[in-house]
Amino acid sequence: MKLIAVSLAVFLCACGSKKDDPPKTEPKTEAKTETKTEKADPVEKATEKTEKTEKAEKTEKTEKTEKTEKTEKTEKTEKAEAGSGAKKFEFDALSEEEKIDFMKKKVVPEMKIAFQKHDAKEFEKFNCKTCHGKDPKASKYKMPNPDLPKLDFEALKAGKDEKLMKAAKWMAEVVTPTMAKILEEEPYSEKNPKGFGCLACHEQKK
Ligand code: HEC
Ligand code: HEC
Repeated sequence: MKLIAVSLAVFLCACGSKKDDPPKTEPKTEAKTETKTEKADPVEKATEKTEKTEKAEKTEKTEKTEKTEKTEKTEKTEKAEAGSGAKKFEFDALSEEEKIDFMKKKVVPEMKIAFQKHDAKEFEKFNCKTCHGKDPKASKYKMPNPDLPKLDFEALKAGKDEKLMKAAKWMAEVVTPTMAKILEEEPYSEKNPKGFGCLACHEQKK
């Protein structure tokens, strides 16, 4: 039991939700335009400088804005492409209809096996409601689902309830990684607190 508790603790420390933050942008600061000094006349030079400086600043600003926009775009594209080769699947970007279709075709068949392998009797009936609750249409399939058992991470860390620990171990070792894989999301870990973890499905007990 101890061993399970320890291995779970890693998972349970600060299980985050899976939502991503918008990509961060770090605007480049180095100026591209330099002020040239060619003329000898100091007055003319000064005027010219001012004009040039103004121009340079403007250009710099414009460039910065453009650069920022570009960086943002590139980062988005890179993010979208990262992970699974050329086409990165993004569940959140699907339409409602596509999401339902994906759940029917990809999630239910594979997760059904995972659940029934664990307990064929308890999960004899396995469908949308298993994860999305009694009335998924009313809840709009919102996840995490408040109908699922609320997770008490303290109790799980304590590891006293054997039945609960067994379920939690299965959740950590099978359900969560399988679901993350289907959704093509990085699994939660201490290093990746925004990854797909327990709190993508469960709420936390307060
Ligand atoms: C094994 C658990 C599981 C089962 C079974 C399941 N879903 Fe889901 N569903 C999820 C999770 C987890 C998410 C959240 C995914 C995400 O946002 O990355 C989700 C999200 C959704 C969403 C998007 C909700 C939103 O807020 O945009 C819809 C719609 C949906 N599911 C429909 C269905 C339908 C229809 C079925 C049955 C055919 C089904 N699901 C079966 C786990 C499940
Ligand atoms: C894809 C959605 C999903 C994810 C991710 C998930 N769970 Fe679950 N969990 C469920 C479903 C569905 C059940 C079954 C609820 C039922 O029995 O009706 C469940 C049941 C449990 C139970 C049994 C509760 C009880 O009272 O019998 C525990 C404990 C549990 N989960 C812990 C976890 C932990 C810990 C994690 C993360 C390591 C996790 N779950 C991740 C969907 C999920």
